[in-house]
Amino acid sequence: MMLDIKERLIVALDVATSDEALALVDQLTGVVGYFKIGMQLYYACGNRLIKEITDRGGKIFLDLKLHDIPNTVHQAAKVIAGLGVSMTNFHVAGGSEMLTRAVAGLNTSPTPTLALGVTVLTSLDNSNLTELGIKVPVAKTVASWSSIAQNSGCQGVVCSPQEIKIVKEQCGAGFLTVTPGIRPSWSTKDDQKRITTPYDAIKQGGDYIVIGRPIRTAAQPRQAAMRIVEEMLEGYIAFEKQKKEI
Ligand code: C5P
Repeated sequence: MMLDIKERLIVALDVATSDEALALVDQLTGVVGYFKIGMQLYYACGNRLIKEITDRGGKIFLDLKLHDIPNTVHQAAKVIAGLGVSMTNFHVAGGSEMLTRAVAGLNTSPTPTLALGVTVLTSLDNSNLTELGIKVPVAKTVASWSSIAQNSGCQGVVCSPQEIKIVKEQCGAGFLTVTPGIRPSWSTKDDQKRITTPYDAIKQGGDYIVIGRPIRTAAQPRQAAMRIVEEMLEGYIAFEKQKKEI
C-alpha cells in the first residue's frame, strides 16, 4: 500500500485541447497522482501532449482500452511502452492471449508501464451481457475476468467501485483496482448513476480512484483535489483500522 495517498488520485483530463489539458496539469501538479488521457484527448493531441505532460513531471494513465487481435495489440503496446506513460489498459474481452501479448509488448521497454484489464464496462448490466450471449451476471463476470487479467500478467483492473471487494477476494489484496464513478458527497453526480465516495472507495481497499468533473469544473480545482485527498486519507485510516479488527 502506498502511503502518499494523493498518489492514488487520477484526474480525468476530459477536455478537447492541449491548452486546456496543460492548464489543468499546471493547476493540479503536486496535489494529485496521475492524469488520465482518454480517447478524445489522445485522438486530438496525441503523443505530443503526453510528452508535454511528462516533461512537466506529470504521470499519465493512457486510457485507450485496446481490443484487437493479439499481434496488433502487441505491436501497439510496444509503441505505448516507449511513450513514458505510467499505466494503460486493454479489454479483457480481447482474451487471455491478447492480454499476455499486450503485457509482453509493454515489457519491451525498460521503463515500466502498468497493464490494467478493463473488465465489464459499468455502462453494461446483466441484460446487456445476456444480449451478448453471456449468461453469467456482471459481478461473477468481473470476478472471472479479473482472474484472466491477473493470469495474463496484468497488475490490476479497471472496475466499478462496487466491485472492489469482489476483485480483491478473487485476486488478492495486491491486485490493483482503478475505479471511476467516484463522487464526493459535496459535488454533483453529473451522469454517473451508481456512485461511491472517495472515502468509501479507499475504505473498501480500492487502490486508485479516477475523478474528472468534480475537480475539473470546480471553481478552484486545486482546492477541490486537496479536499478529495483529505477524504481519501480518512478512508485509508478507516481501511487500516478495519484490517486490524479482522
Ligand atoms: O467526470 P467524471 O468523474 O465522471 O469522469 C470519470 C472518467 O472515468 C471519465 O473519463 C470517464 O470516461 C471514465 N469512466 C467512467 N466510467 C467507466 C469507465 C470510465 O466514468 N465505467
